[in-house]
Amino acid sequence: MRTRITELFEIEHPIIQGGMHYVGFAEMAGAVSAAGGLGIITGLTQGSPENLAKEIRRCREMTNRPFGVNLTFLPAVTPPDYPGYIKAIIDNGIKIVETAGNNPQKWLPALKDAGIKVIHKCTSVRHSLKAESIGCDAVSVDGFECGGHPGEDDVPNFILLPRAAEELKIPFVASGGMADGRSLAAALALGADGINMGTRFIATREAPVHDNVKQALLAASELDTRLVMRPLRNTERVLRNAAVDRLLEKEKSLGSNIKFADILPEVAGVYPRIMKQGEMDAGAWSCGMVVGLIHDIPTVRELVERTVHEAESIIGKKLAAVLGR
Ligand SMILES: Cc1cc2nc3c(=O)[nH]c(=O)nc-3n(C[C@H](O)[C@H](O)[C@H](O)COP(=O)(O)O)c2cc1C
Repeated sequence: MRTRITELFEIEHPIIQGGMHYVGFAEMAGAVSAAGGLGIITGLTQGSPENLAKEIRRCREMTNRPFGVNLTFLPAVTPPDYPGYIKAIIDNGIKIVETAGNNPQKWLPALKDAGIKVIHKCTSVRHSLKAESIGCDAVSVDGFECGGHPGEDDVPNFILLPRAAEELKIPFVASGGMADGRSLAAALALGADGINMGTRFIATREAPVHDNVKQALLAASELDTRLVMRPLRNTERVLRNAAVDRLLEKEKSLGSNIKFADILPEVAGVYPRIMKQGEMDAGAWSCGMVVGLIHDIPTVRELVERTVHEAESIIGKKLAAVLGR
């Protein structure tokens, strides 16, 4: 398959692994890139620019194919050392950066001067157009189904992707709800140039997370995600568990008076406990509705290759047959 995304990032398959907190280590990104997709190391998960530099070097030992780094700009009491992370990215020869969470304009000149291509993750057409206008090379269009932060507009991908295709000139990938070759073929049909998967990549052999996390994904259905933090306008789609039920109870009882401090026990510092220790009720962790389509734990290569083969077969055989070809 050749699309504007495979050309832009010089990758074999139009499949990207989105940055994921406490999942996007070298093992994850390296496996996806080695399989011909685009793996992404999650910058902030590494904890410091020095550790990010080490993670980039570790990933380079695993694959000589391109991989990227995610930089997430979310509200924080003490902002991370973004200039330090950008320097680590540039000094260590990264050529692709996935930005998310907020407008990356301030950081674009430094990235562009270093010859880095930027793909910005957006949850709306207006943010995608903004990303295009400030010079991003591509966007990842994240629909309401997605794991993580779907924004506040609640437009699912069956509408959002064709709307993005109507307006955007730069290439874009479909993100949120993507699981297999059916997703890839549909995304291409709706006007995207490829797909970005998050949740699906966690249920792979190489994903460096506790087995309890993978088993939770296998056990869950498409009915098991919840939206939290909507009253704080920081909506996140997470997998339902005891902590999420507690959090939603607090949202109900405190109403519009709720403060971030009220939900700290359910959201602060929970990722290492879940992803590393496998404490599945430790707090709220991102998960997409696509969890309903996850029934196995293949290797990353198996997942990427079967996704491409299935999409090729749908386009070349199933859809061609509809036209009697
Ligand atoms: C566990 C988890 C952690 C995530 N962490 C981040 C993050 O730190 N930064 C970011 O930009 N996106 C993050 N995401 C969003 C993914 O990169 C991707 O956009 C999303 O998962 C796509 O939706 P899907 O899960 O339906 O495939 C996370 C997603 C998951 C499931």
